[in-house]
Amino acid sequence: MSVPYQIKSIEQYQADYKKSIEEPEAFWASIAEHFVWKRKCLPAGEAGKNVLNWNFKEPKIEWFAGATLNITENCIDRHLADKGEQAAIIWEPNHPDERVRVVTYNRLHKRVCQFAQVLKNNGVKKGDRVCIYMGMVPELAYAVLGCARIGAIHSVIFGGFSAQSIADRLEDAQAEFIVTCDGAYRGDKVIPLKSVIDDALIGNKVVKKVIVYTRTRTPVSMLKGRDIWWEDEMDHAETQLEQQGGIHFPAEEMDAEDPLFILYTSGSTGKPKGVVHTSAGYMLWTNYTFLNVFQYKPGQIHFCTADIGWITGHSYIVYGPLSAGATSLMFEGVPTFPDAGRFWDIVDKHQVNILYTAPTAIRSLMSFGLEPLQGKDLSSLKVLGTVGEPINEEAWNWYDENIGKKKCPIVDTWWQTETGGCLISNLAGITPSRPGWATLPMPGISPKLVDENGNDSPEDEDGLTKGNLVIDKPWPGILRTTWGDHERCRTNYFATYENLYFTGDGAIKDENGFYRITGRVDDVLNVSGHRIGTAEVENAINMHSGVVESAVVGYPHEIKGQGIYAFVIDNNLHGDEELTRKDILQTVSRVIGPIAKPDKIQFVKGLPKTRSGKIMRRILRKIAEGETENLGDTTTLLDPNVVDEIKNGKL
Ligand code: WTA
Repeated sequence: MSVPYQIKSIEQYQADYKKSIEEPEAFWASIAEHFVWKRKCLPAGEAGKNVLNWNFKEPKIEWFAGATLNITENCIDRHLADKGEQAAIIWEPNHPDERVRVVTYNRLHKRVCQFAQVLKNNGVKKGDRVCIYMGMVPELAYAVLGCARIGAIHSVIFGGFSAQSIADRLEDAQAEFIVTCDGAYRGDKVIPLKSVIDDALIGNKVVKKVIVYTRTRTPVSMLKGRDIWWEDEMDHAETQLEQQGGIHFPAEEMDAEDPLFILYTSGSTGKPKGVVHTSAGYMLWTNYTFLNVFQYKPGQIHFCTADIGWITGHSYIVYGPLSAGATSLMFEGVPTFPDAGRFWDIVDKHQVNILYTAPTAIRSLMSFGLEPLQGKDLSSLKVLGTVGEPINEEAWNWYDENIGKKKCPIVDTWWQTETGGCLISNLAGITPSRPGWATLPMPGISPKLVDENGNDSPEDEDGLTKGNLVIDKPWPGILRTTWGDHERCRTNYFATYENLYFTGDGAIKDENGFYRITGRVDDVLNVSGHRIGTAEVENAINMHSGVVESAVVGYPHEIKGQGIYAFVIDNNLHGDEELTRKDILQTVSRVIGPIAKPDKIQFVKGLPKTRSGKIMRRILRKIAEGETENLGDTTTLLDPNVVDEIKNGKL
């Protein structure tokens, strides 16, 4: 069965785009008709109700407010009649010799209902925050959807974050419940997740229950009264539900604008912020973009290689594919274990049709040459995708030639945690692609490029427009607030330019209206497609007792896209630079997690500062990039000599 709002031609894209901008309410209301509601939204204008209420000043953004639904009925129940025995999730384990698990929609329904009952048995209510810190196992999807079923707000934390990071997030969200695993497999490593949670909970007085799923049989300490086993709880819930007449847990009625989840992400300030997405708008947006960008066809297998700890996993492993009744492949491991042919083995083994990954993974696999591709049948592939960072032309071409065999359109999808789903991307096989360019905006998205003062950037002689990327209208998947601090949401995204959502990215537009994203213009780094705030890393480095002050900038890195370069003033107490370097790395691992460890640490005597004490990052960035000549004006510096010293000591 084809989906009426799946765009089939470039003409339809143009027509739909036009309609979405001119009549957004009618456009989205007609798409909303294709979902399951408990109470439908009143037609626009009736009894003071609108599909959309908004202003970017506060900001206040509401889509379908007053209508009610449960997203899990859209992701699961509605598919049971005709797709009950179809795979919803195919799970590929870390080690290829371990058994694959196929979770049908019937089984997914059963497990999600059971887990919702477990949450209820443990006192979880609508609106409560549940923190999820698990490896990539199907139970992670059950946990996420179980929360949504009962109306609890999930907050998934990526398994690479440290105890301190978890503690900060638990505190900010005031989460009372945690779901975790004893451990997680990642390549040849075992990450002791429960033990990290134990450290995060030292001194925590808010968390009442920790539910622990057994994956690695890593020894764990189970605190009486607080820590409980997933397996016991699920068995108990099963018996309970069966006694009540069968495994079904009624889905909580949620307002369209009730929060669905919080996902913490880095910004230019020191503390990560909890981006809040709500039920209906997020559902529509992930479903619509999934079907249109990837041009998903019934029966296809979609493999998104992200971790559910990041937004890409939320939107394109769980909610987008499942709301579309698709088969989503979930991979527990890493691309290079047991060898660099792992992705290609998975594509071959499961006859994957859509592969969605990050440029950093492509570049890393490229570096192993073509040998890992030998004997791998990739002919099932129809569509390739990339996300998370700008893709360089070399990587794009390698992906096109060696993986897609020049037969698969590549979608370069630009979006953010805050946007819920893709905003700028070509539509596979429908709109044109261009290496390194995300190309055209999705229907509903009206991007603009502005200068520092918010004025429209002019077009230059070559027909190019350059500027900061902003969006001037809300779309259904836009963030609604930052948890516990609405003002922070306003100042971060809606205050830089009046009445505009500021993305933090710079971009170029060509004469065809194609966009190329050039990267962050704020103090946010993009390391291997992971967002990391420079202030966050500096705070962590500064916590080391040997550090007086530090400044962190990004520099071009062949595989990671950006690497982290730290300039550090140390107090030289034990005189061993190498040891201090290791201590700093250890400190950053402890405070944030291994993903934020600097690639380079240069010890310096001073940092380039203005007379008012502000660090001139522009200069440091240039030095880190290898530029020694054109450092710009250094006369306003308090002590221009530090620049020479830093230049001479460059790593
Ligand atoms: C960057 C990930 C260029 C961008 C979905 C954005 C990209 C940040 C692309 C968001 C792309 C994402 N081309 N840059 N196709 N996709 N980015 O929140 O800088 O983890 O602001 O969301 O990644 O990262 P986040």
